[in-house]
Amino acid sequence: MHSEVERLAEMAQAGERMIERLRKQAFLPDSRKGLNIRFGIAEAAQLLGCSTNRIRMAEDDGRLPPPPPTENGRRPGYSIEALLNMRAVLGASPARAPLDRPAMIAVQNFKGGVGKSTVTTHLAHYFAIQGYRVLVVDCDSQATTTTLFGFNPHFNITREQTLYPYLSIDPTQTDLLYAVQKTPWPNVDLIPSNLELFDVEYELAASGADGGSVLASRFRKLKAGLEDLARGYDVVILDPPPALGTISLAVMQAANALIVPLAATTPDFCSTVQFLSMMDQVTSQLAQAGLTVDYDFVRLLCSKFDGNDPSHAMVRQIMEQTFGPALLPVSILESAEISHAALRMMTVYELERPIGSARTHKRSRANLDEAMAQVEALVRRGWGLATPASEEAVVNG
Ligand SMILES: Nc1ncnc2c1ncn2[C@@H]1O[C@H](COP(=O)(O)OP(=O)(O)OP(=O)(O)O)[C@@H](O)[C@H]1O
Ligand SMILES: [Mg+2]
Repeated sequence: MHSEVERLAEMAQAGERMIERLRKQAFLPDSRKGLNIRFGIAEAAQLLGCSTNRIRMAEDDGRLPPPPPTENGRRPGYSIEALLNMRAVLGASPARAPLDRPAMIAVQNFKGGVGKSTVTTHLAHYFAIQGYRVLVVDCDSQATTTTLFGFNPHFNITREQTLYPYLSIDPTQTDLLYAVQKTPWPNVDLIPSNLELFDVEYELAASGADGGSVLASRFRKLKAGLEDLARGYDVVILDPPPALGTISLAVMQAANALIVPLAATTPDFCSTVQFLSMMDQVTSQLAQAGLTVDYDFVRLLCSKFDGNDPSHAMVRQIMEQTFGPALLPVSILESAEISHAALRMMTVYELERPIGSARTHKRSRANLDEAMAQVEALVRRGWGLATPASEEAVVNG
């Protein structure tokens, strides 16, 4: 006879086996996700802000490799690598100038399940398609973002590969380079997480009277370490845990921009108000302790908007009234395409073909592009570059 408590272990083991099975189904045999998305020439031209002719000419005169060969009368399209090369050759890279500060965006709300990891991963892949160099840092021991990048945090990630060795009370690393992993995206890197990252919080609790200085030194360390790494990227996206703990606070302090996702529901609205008020208190306390928090932008992002639910429209209206321009005008729509992609441990940007109907997919993708572009515009504003380079500007050097 098993006690109910013993069942916990059984349930956990059965769950782990199932995750591994799902992961094996979702990923290639080498247990790592491949990235097989392709872009047609019209889409590529649109992304680069040039004409298709300009791409064809460069392919003809040898500046670009010849177009992918036709298969069954259709061209399979350009890979993300080919797209990045096109940007480099045609001078259409959106990368920041060396003196512009990299965006370090925390996607935070202490409320769980508001879409932090969904926003983090979609934002990362959106920025990647636009041609930016992106680093994603999973700071949550639940490791949803790590999972969405195709890793099984339990099997594939050890504590030594997370932020832990750097943030530990007895650190074994002096910078964060060790933690950066490649992802299937050529221009997206990841610092993964797993459950053991939570040890950082235990250590603080056990540090007793030294707690204050441990906390302050971790704050300074995380910020310094991330700023150091950020030099090689345009955008760093941080996915913190949904709680007011050491890591969460350190992330908030390291970031230079804040996106707060929330659904258009009353509980999310109320929790978010609490979160904002707590953030206000915490930032002034940190300032008193000599730790400055400085954001280029703070915006709320409605993350699961259901246009068919009248209550969502009502809450969205309340949010607009309350927050004014701090609420981003375009919401992310609640979409089966997002949840179905999540089931495959992917983002909508990684899907080679629609999971649901072509219409649902297109709608979700267009909405995500529009929602994420709002964040891109804020980032670029900080760089003093209002719009991506136009074709004219590129042609005229
Ligand atoms: N726009 C959306 N449409 C459909 N499903 C969504 C959408 N946004 C998020 N979800 C789903 O909602 C759930 C919670 O999202 P997510 O894991 O991103 O939230 P979170 O804030 O990171 O949660 P946690 O607090 O646990 O870290 C996931 O199952 C996700 O797939
Ligand atoms: Mg999450």
